[in-house]
Amino acid sequence: MRTQVAIIGAGPAGLLLSHLLHLQGIDSVVLESRDRDYVEHRQRAGVLEQGTADVLRESGVGERLDREGLVHHGVELRFGGAGHRIPLTDLTGRTVTVYAQTEMVKDLVARRLADGGEVLFEAEAVEVDPSAPSVTFRSGGELRTLHCDYVAGCDGFHGVSRPAVPGIRTFSREYPFAWLGILADVPPSTEELIYAHHDRGFALHSLRSPTVSRLYLQVRPDEDLAEWSDARIWDELAARFATDDGWKLHEGPITDRSVTPMRSFVAEPLRHDRLFLAGDAGHIVPPTGAKGLNLAVSDVIVLARAFAERYASGSETLLDGYSDAVLRRVWMTEHFSYWMTHLLHVDPAAGDFERRLQRAHLDYVVSSEAARTSLAENYVGLPITWPS
Ligand code: FAD
Ligand code: DHB
Repeated sequence: MRTQVAIIGAGPAGLLLSHLLHLQGIDSVVLESRDRDYVEHRQRAGVLEQGTADVLRESGVGERLDREGLVHHGVELRFGGAGHRIPLTDLTGRTVTVYAQTEMVKDLVARRLADGGEVLFEAEAVEVDPSAPSVTFRSGGELRTLHCDYVAGCDGFHGVSRPAVPGIRTFSREYPFAWLGILADVPPSTEELIYAHHDRGFALHSLRSPTVSRLYLQVRPDEDLAEWSDARIWDELAARFATDDGWKLHEGPITDRSVTPMRSFVAEPLRHDRLFLAGDAGHIVPPTGAKGLNLAVSDVIVLARAFAERYASGSETLLDGYSDAVLRRVWMTEHFSYWMTHLLHVDPAAGDFERRLQRAHLDYVVSSEAARTSLAENYVGLPITWPS
C-alpha cells in the first residue's frame, strides 16, 4: 500500500491535515486505531479560536459550524462573589466560537469520506520508520505496511510517533489537581463562559448548545468519580459559582462525566527525517484557556502549507522550518495555559501569602486594560508563526 503522506490518528489534527492536503491535490491515508463512533463521540474541547473557525470555513467544512456554532465576544472571570467581563472582541477585534470537538471531527470525517479520502478506522499503527519511510499497522488481525513520502504523527499524547524520534527532548509539568467534567441536559445558566476562582477551587461553566451545558470542577488528581453523586456535583458547582447578588445555577440530568489529569508537555524537535509530529503528539497544555485543539489546528495549517510547497516546487524549505516555527507559538501558548491555570486554581500547597498574591493577581487582571488585553489576545488565539 502506498500514499504520499501517511497520517497516524483521526483526531482534529490528522483529519484536518488530510483534508487540507486533499485540497492541494496531495494524497494521504489516515490510520486510526479506534472505530468511527468512538472518535466521533469522545467528549473533549469546545472552544474554537477565530483562526480555527476561519480555516474550517475557508476550506469548505464550516457550513454546520456557521449554523450551529455560538460566536462569543467575551468571557467572565468570577471571584470574590462578583463577575468581571473580559470583552474579547472590544479588546482584540476577534471572537471565539463554541462548537464541540466531536462536531468538528464528524464534519471532517464526513467530508474526507465524501471526497473519496481513505480514513482507515480500527487500523492501529504499531511501528513508524521515519527513514524508509513507512508505517506498519494492524487491521482486521493482519499486519500491513503503508509506504509513503512522509509520515505525519497526529496520534495524540499516547501514540507511537513521538517514540520514533530518536533523542527527542521533553519538557513537562504535572499539576496537583485535575478537572471533573460533566455534560448536562440543561440550558446554560450563562450566555458567556464563566471561569470561577473560589477558595474551594476552580470551576468553569461552558456550553454546547442552547439546551446542553458543559461544566468543570477542580478536583484532586486521584479523584474517584464514584464519590461524586449528581447532587454533590451540583452543590459544589453552585458553591463555587455563587455571587453576592444571588446568581442561580440551573441543574439537569448529567449525561457524561470524566476526570481529566492536567499536564504541560512539549517535545523537541517535532521532526525526525521524514516524520513530523503535530497536535497532542508533540505537546499538551492544561485545559484552562481551551488551547489544545486550537494548537493542533495551527500546527497542521503550517504543516499543510509546507507539504504544498514541497509537492508544488520540490522545495523542502518550509518543511525544514516547520519544527522551529511551530514550537515558537507552542511555547507562547504553553505559557498562557500555565499562567491561566495558576491564576484560577487553588494550589493545595499554597499558604496564606500565596493566596493573597493570587487574589492581587486576579484584581490586577480585571482592573488593568493592559492585563485584560493580554488575556484576550491569547484567548482568541495568537497569530500563526511561519517558518522564516
Ligand atoms: P487526539 O484528538 O488525541 O487524536 C489522536 C488520534 O490518534 C486519536 O483518535 C487516537 O485514537 C489516535 N491514535 C493514537 N494512537 C494511535 C495509533 N497507534 N494508531 C492509530 N491511531 C492512533 N482543547 C481546546 O483547544 N479547547 C478546549 O476547550 C479543550 N478542552 C478539553 C477538555 C478536555 C476534557 C480534554 C481531555 C481536552 C481538551 N482540549 C481542549 C484538548 C484537545 O481535546 C486536544 O488537544 C485535541 O484533541 C488534540 O487533537 P489531536 O488530533 O492532536 O489529538
Ligand atoms: C471548554 C474547555 C476548556 O478547557 C475551556 O477553557 C473552555 C471551555 C469546553 O469544553 O467547553
